[in-house]
Amino acid sequence: MSVPSDISEKAQARTGVDRITWAAREMPVLGLIRARFAQDQPLKGLRVAACLHVTTETANLALALRDGGAELRLCASNPLSTQDDVAAALVEEYGISVFARRGEDSETYYRHIHQALDHSPQVTMDDGADLVATIHRERRDLLTGVVGGTEETTTGVIRLRAMAADSALGYPIAAVNESNTKHLFDNRFGTGQSTVDGIVRATNVLLAGKTFVVAGYGWCGRGLASRARGLGAHVVVTEVDPVRALEAVMEGFSVMPMVEAAEIGDLFVTVTGDCHVIDEEVLEAMKDGAIMANSGHFDNEIDLEALQGMSEAKRRVRDHVDEYRMGDGRTLYLLGEGRLVNLAAAEGHPASVMDMSFANQALGTEWLVNNAATLQAQVHDLPDSIDEEIAKLKLQAMGIGIDTLTEEQQAYLSSWETGT
Ligand code: ADE
Repeated sequence: MSVPSDISEKAQARTGVDRITWAAREMPVLGLIRARFAQDQPLKGLRVAACLHVTTETANLALALRDGGAELRLCASNPLSTQDDVAAALVEEYGISVFARRGEDSETYYRHIHQALDHSPQVTMDDGADLVATIHRERRDLLTGVVGGTEETTTGVIRLRAMAADSALGYPIAAVNESNTKHLFDNRFGTGQSTVDGIVRATNVLLAGKTFVVAGYGWCGRGLASRARGLGAHVVVTEVDPVRALEAVMEGFSVMPMVEAAEIGDLFVTVTGDCHVIDEEVLEAMKDGAIMANSGHFDNEIDLEALQGMSEAKRRVRDHVDEYRMGDGRTLYLLGEGRLVNLAAAEGHPASVMDMSFANQALGTEWLVNNAATLQAQVHDLPDSIDEEIAKLKLQAMGIGIDTLTEEQQAYLSSWETGT
């Protein structure tokens, strides 16, 4: 079967199938949704453009959408995150249209986004809002045909809320990131583990005894700080939000401004969603040999231009590790070119958390389609019932039972008359 595509490494398609099947073992909730979709065809004939990291987990989402009747085109949401064997498997073995090549340059990245949009999608599925941004800036002709979109990540939701506040958003968005079964697990346990995984695969450094600086204490930062501590690192948190900073203090982490952390850190990881968290002043203060990585959506959390400008020479010393010889004689190291280190140097979040994130994507798409006529062009949370359903199914799949309220307890909770 030949479908429109632009991929590398076609010969690796069978490896891709094996790895996609392996991930499916840990994605029981998405598997159940896929089986129901195959039977009920809730997305029959729906044209979907998806801009997601092309991984084994995303492949399982793509298969669920396809089995639900969707006509899908998939492109990458980051130039360095594509798993080429997965892209090959999707195209060659499963007949799904993919436009993604690992290491693609910026021009190719945006060409792929346009190719995904060329089949006039009715639903967009974003991880970082690049499809929405491209449609609104350059492909406004497509706007009338789009019934809605979904957004996977915090950064994307922030961009989309800004568009909605400016009355610039042309169609409703289901903010998958806001579901509890997404951000409490994917952002926290997923980013926590996969970021450490990326750093360790890239460097093989021992974290025990190192001073590990986490910039940002949102759900991703919380997860990362906790995992780094679990491996014996001395964790320093930097924050701009006083409540989050206080929470980090009471979790037992050291909290201080980044310029102070710069002087003591061995490893630095940015997970803030904001730009230039590591700027010239911070780079100036870092110790010789410091290692930097980013696990936020965009590659602007570390000021790469400043790093480049302050350095005299740069060379790749290991896969995913660039060494910068600074003008003052220090050496600094940057992992994964400042892009998402968990996807550039490792395989992204493990399948078990992506199971819940992508269950939200699948059910969110169905919800959007069913409710398109009444939804405003705003950013919407998914209904709590979807969150609860996903949590219940996940617990069931894990073989874990929980208690239910007795009638007496239910009555107690809904009454205001009982008390002291
Ligand atoms: N984002 C983080 N990890 C991911 C994964 N494994 N697949 C798709 N998107 C991701």
